[in-house]
Amino acid sequence: MSNKLIDGKAIAAAIKKEIAKEVATLIDADKKAPHLAAVLVGNDPASETYVASKERACKEVGITSTTYRLAEKTSEKELVEIIEFLNNDPDVDGFIVQLPLPSHLNSDKILEHIHPSKDVDGFHPLNIGRMQLGLPCYLPATPYGVVELLKRSKVEIDGKHCVVLGRSNIVGTPLSILLSRKSNYGNATVTLCHSRTRDLNTIIQQADILIAAIGQPEFVKGDMLKKDVVVVDVGIHRIPDASNEKGYRLTGDVDFESVKEVVSKITPVPGGVGPMTIVSLLQNTLSASQKKIY
Ligand code: GUN
Repeated sequence: MSNKLIDGKAIAAAIKKEIAKEVATLIDADKKAPHLAAVLVGNDPASETYVASKERACKEVGITSTTYRLAEKTSEKELVEIIEFLNNDPDVDGFIVQLPLPSHLNSDKILEHIHPSKDVDGFHPLNIGRMQLGLPCYLPATPYGVVELLKRSKVEIDGKHCVVLGRSNIVGTPLSILLSRKSNYGNATVTLCHSRTRDLNTIIQQADILIAAIGQPEFVKGDMLKKDVVVVDVGIHRIPDASNEKGYRLTGDVDFESVKEVVSKITPVPGGVGPMTIVSLLQNTLSASQKKIY
């Protein structure tokens, strides 16, 4: 089994080492350390956890991080003022506005205020358009992480049938673009499936590579799959489990126990895609400080 596992933790650790080395080279050349800022509005516990992990990861590689914590009741005008401030702060290379925002704020409208050259989340419409056109841009963290994971695990995707489950703006849709584009790691034939897809099981059965990003715990079962498929599980869910000392266990969109028998490779949850996401943000921040994209 262990040779089937795609070890996201180990791959993420290797990439972090590469980033730390590049940051050290910048410092040795008397350049400033890359600087990532995060804006957190309100007290969403999951967002607090994400932002804390981002701060920790930055520290590990020598990237400076600053978090702007704003009250839940922050107005659109106040938030836009902070964004404008960060857009114009020469010390900040890139920043993110942590999502979800409180319900009185329209995140699509807010994200458009981030200057594309500092949009290290890759959520600005200009970066999404540039990705679609194959132009230099910041790639959104999870899709970028999935592509790196496949590439570094030497999974051949050229000409293969990749089935993506889920068409979200931050995972499924950008992944469908990245995997199918004409580039040196692309050229897959992609089927993007969603809640209205007919004959889903027939399509899943045809996958050489299956990416599960639908947000339903253990949706994908072993008997749905072609032998030797590569499975990437983007989901993460807490399932109540009295036998576990934490009172819950973590699982993905894939039923690991039945699926592991059929696959040639699989990403576990936890320890697969998750660790890659933050690393992608660090890569984007490093690229921003080196002015590699804009
Ligand atoms: N909330 C959950 N994931 C993300 C992410 O990648 N970026 C931002 N800004 N918010 C998130």
